[in-house]
Amino acid sequence: MKTLVNGQLVDREEAAVDIEDRGYQFGDGVYEVIRVYNGALFGLREHIARLFRSAAEIGITLPFSAEDIEWDLQKLVQENKLIDGGVYIQTTRGKAPRKHQYDEGLEPQTTAYTFSVKKPENEQKAGAQAITAEDKRWLRCDIKSLNLLYNVMIKQKAYEAGAYEAVLIRDGAVTEGTSSNVYAVINGTVRTHPANELILNGITRMKLLELMKENDIEVREKALTEDELRDADEIFISSTTAELIPIVTLDGKPVGSGVPGPVAKTIQEAFQSHIQQELGVQS
Ligand code: PDD
Repeated sequence: MKTLVNGQLVDREEAAVDIEDRGYQFGDGVYEVIRVYNGALFGLREHIARLFRSAAEIGITLPFSAEDIEWDLQKLVQENKLIDGGVYIQTTRGKAPRKHQYDEGLEPQTTAYTFSVKKPENEQKAGAQAITAEDKRWLRCDIKSLNLLYNVMIKQKAYEAGAYEAVLIRDGAVTEGTSSNVYAVINGTVRTHPANELILNGITRMKLLELMKENDIEVREKALTEDELRDADEIFISSTTAELIPIVTLDGKPVGSGVPGPVAKTIQEAFQSHIQQELGVQS
């Protein structure tokens, strides 16, 4: 298995991180997770554009062009003969003697590898459980940074409660999941948090919003209150690996009628056709 280390394809066993890499010590870096369907990287341009944006927001200048890294990731997928799976890519600020502030001239370290993904078909069809939790993350959730400690803590809590995801609530407003965007359907209208500094603007989210408009499903990018969430007719989540998963119980109580709702199903179907169209494949 090959990995990409600063533009070179090397054997996984040879890829190593310096113990004073700032990503390792401070979480000082950014990342992306990209889905591979039938050997093709889905939404590659958008993911790489977001990687550049996240890096710029924390003052890292990526030492490659978007075209170069897109090419390298395609080569990585081909080399590893990956058909269905994903690519993880991260860039850290670089290696330096440990101190919080950083000097100019550090060399960003970029690594990428492929992994297989099991499509969560059961959850997509039958729906999944979610819990709620307070959103205690920092206030720049729009940056896809390596700092995921609170997300990790709360996802673990969800997992231990037998749930697939935790829906985060900040000051009474629903923001997103620990690793997904969150939507609710109220009287036929889809509501989701606006793309500001309190959420990550998911690549899947952006595609779903386009598809909702194309399918004449009304959408309002306005944060849901906790009460609205609990009374919603439907709730669903989206991410690169989950695609779209209906949430059928929230904190142990049924959402709407307790089964995946019609709006979620319509959007799910539209998304599957979109993937097939984009890639010319059966997803
Ligand atoms: N997570 N919000 C958060 C906090 C996320 O971590 C993610 C994705 C999303 C959805 O973004 P996208 O549709 O671009 O995947 C929203 C990735 C998959 C992860 O960390 O594994």
